[in-house]
Amino acid sequence: MKPLIKGALIAMLPLVLSCASCKSKSVSHPAKSLSSAYSTYFDIGAAVTAGEWGFDSLTHYPASLLAEFSSLTAENCMKPDALQKTKGSFTWSFGQRLVDYAKENNKRLRGHTLVWHNQTPDWMAKNASSKEEARENMKVHIETILKKWDEKDIYCWDVVNEAINDGAAEVYRNDSPWFKVYGGPEFIRDAFIFARSANPKVKLLYNDYNVVNQPKRNHIVTMIKELKLIEDGLIDGVGIQAHWNLDWPSISTIDQTIKTFAAMGLTVHITELDIKTKENQQGLLEKRYREIFEVFRANADHIESVTFWGVADDHTWLTDFTKYVNFPFLFDVEGKPKSSYFIVRDFAQNHEGK
Ligand code: G3I
Repeated sequence: MKPLIKGALIAMLPLVLSCASCKSKSVSHPAKSLSSAYSTYFDIGAAVTAGEWGFDSLTHYPASLLAEFSSLTAENCMKPDALQKTKGSFTWSFGQRLVDYAKENNKRLRGHTLVWHNQTPDWMAKNASSKEEARENMKVHIETILKKWDEKDIYCWDVVNEAINDGAAEVYRNDSPWFKVYGGPEFIRDAFIFARSANPKVKLLYNDYNVVNQPKRNHIVTMIKELKLIEDGLIDGVGIQAHWNLDWPSISTIDQTIKTFAAMGLTVHITELDIKTKENQQGLLEKRYREIFEVFRANADHIESVTFWGVADDHTWLTDFTKYVNFPFLFDVEGKPKSSYFIVRDFAQNHEGK
């Protein structure tokens, strides 16, 4: 080989080697947004409001910020008490705004949630005079919603939310009004049956928090098997809420949890990601998001969607829920990208492999 060519090839070697660590899935130039950086991995989503209770994400945040996300989830306006506060009277306006906005902006919309023990009007389950009445209430609720919005409007639903017990002893959350009026967990199976028969083209998921805790994870596996949700073709995936901390859960636990449901043939959605963080802990947050998105990318074949439970630090449920104000997201209180944003978006440039 001519010395000149040989020399040139040797000089190029570091470039070739460094690019070798940029796996085929990553972009070769700085991506313009989170969703474009992850377009070959999974949707990047955010929970949003549509003006119910006075906060409207769609006008509060600039279009350029909302363009970072390829998926949306209604934070509150599609929950049972928001859609059907009084029996037979549905409030569609806020949800319809999200459906229209998602279509106009080429985003996918996740439905949250059809059956829950919280934010559910008492008439639906708690004050129902019998299991049969509660069952009929659930059937009408689910069928009406899936008739109003089809799979082109909302491609998947968190059909049942948080029905599993946190502790090791009991499998099911028995303080749920649905569990009480049914006298057991059959309401979960009914919810999936009603949703599946209302529209077989919509993806159906079970959604919960602390799914990474082994006892709860095992309970969810037990529930899915006991109620024959996979066997009878009723469920498509599991939503892992991911309300996590700077040092919990471990990366290996996250990896194991994703793989547990993937091994059952279920798709995984990370549905409500936020990291409890104080304003002066943003360096720790950077490190945390780096390792979390590394394990998400490593499991991209099993993960369909990763949704933050908010857009920016100025609006997070954590402020009410924890004892200190929280700064959990990739965008600050003014909607500007934080250092964590660039860590998550520019992984390819940082030669972080897959
Ligand atoms: O209905 C009242 C309204 O009348 C009042 O004017 C307004 C004043 O702000 O508050 C309205 O209700 C609040 C609602 O959010 C809307 O802001 C409720 O008091 C408040 O409890 C409710 O919190 C929501 C919470 O679910 C309820 O459990 C949060 O926004 C929402 O982020 C949070 O989301 C849940 C997921 O759905 C399931 N996973 C856990 C996650 C965090 O709790």
